[in-house]
Amino acid sequence: MPEPEGPAVPTTVDVHLPPDHAARSLAADVRAGLAATPKALPPKWFYDARGSELFEAITRLPEYYPTRAEAEILTAHAADIAQVTGAHTLVELGSGSSEKTRLLLDALRDAGLLHRIVALDVSETALREATAALSAEYPMADVRAVVGDFTEHLALVPGEPPRMVAFLGSTIGNLLPDERAKFLGALRGTLLPGEWLLLGTDLVKDESTLVRAYDDSAGVTAEFNRNVLHVLNRELSADFDVDAFEHVAVWDAEREWIEMRLRSVRAQHVTIGALDMAVDFAEGEELRTEVSAKFRREGITEELGAAGFTVHRWWTDPGNRFALSLSRAE
Ligand code: SAH
Ligand code: AVI
Repeated sequence: MPEPEGPAVPTTVDVHLPPDHAARSLAADVRAGLAATPKALPPKWFYDARGSELFEAITRLPEYYPTRAEAEILTAHAADIAQVTGAHTLVELGSGSSEKTRLLLDALRDAGLLHRIVALDVSETALREATAALSAEYPMADVRAVVGDFTEHLALVPGEPPRMVAFLGSTIGNLLPDERAKFLGALRGTLLPGEWLLLGTDLVKDESTLVRAYDDSAGVTAEFNRNVLHVLNRELSADFDVDAFEHVAVWDAEREWIEMRLRSVRAQHVTIGALDMAVDFAEGEELRTEVSAKFRREGITEELGAAGFTVHRWWTDPGNRFALSLSRAE
């Protein structure tokens, strides 16, 4: 009788941050972002347990093409990626459910390469759930979960070369250009020459396809957007009337990014108890909650080059909507 699969190797979960790190970092972002003109918050605060679930629901929407397009590329090229990189460790940043990642993990496993999986995410619930499943599905791999922020905690990523870092979903587009340059430089600094970066980037395309992807007819993206206000209400004892904010998604053709905002439908006064802070919104005033930059091949190749990476492979889906690049740290 063949052995039943498993037993699953227990996942190691490293929470290197002090218990109040998230609260302090959220407090600092809220203090700065709501006092600014125009008001803005960083998108990482969408992802509590409900936000992570809403994101997964977004990936299944007919209008949200990036997940399916990237999965098509991975399906076509995962075996090449395993062969070119020879990676024993797959490090995934902003891993979420790690659903598409299984296409890569299967290819690394089938090539006899896979020894270790490291997943890093700010969303502890999503990370624990995903890495527990990966432990069961890939019993040959040591699975590590790192609860952290990829803009601050790359040095916490364990593992020896040859490693491949996967940063999928075009999550890099949620960083502002200066944050992106800093992130790529820091990532290059944590890798040794010859290690690999597999980067997913959504491509510039017609405005209507882009806006529909961020303003779906079922209203799931609107709920995801408003979820940040639920997070502030719960974590910082704020009293946002969540229903008094409407979802806005606009294409900025000059900066080539989608901007998500929350528009106050009436003048309102909000208190943020934990920060001893009060904020006024005028009727129609908007709070920026996310940018989602769209890329062109030349631009991202140049940004990668400036950070010390050379692009070795560039693949797109048949519809040319999304790109996956495989770059080597020089
Ligand atoms: N990689 C998955 C999930 C993308 S959603 C995919 O391609 O479908 C973005 C993920 O990044 C979420 O799981 C979110 O919790 C995580 N995330 C967002 N900002 C982060 C940050 N600053 N540091 C670490 N994880 C972050
Ligand atoms: C995670 N990130 C790449 C998504 C995006 O498309 O920018 C987040 C998202 N925002 C709205 N819909 C999806």
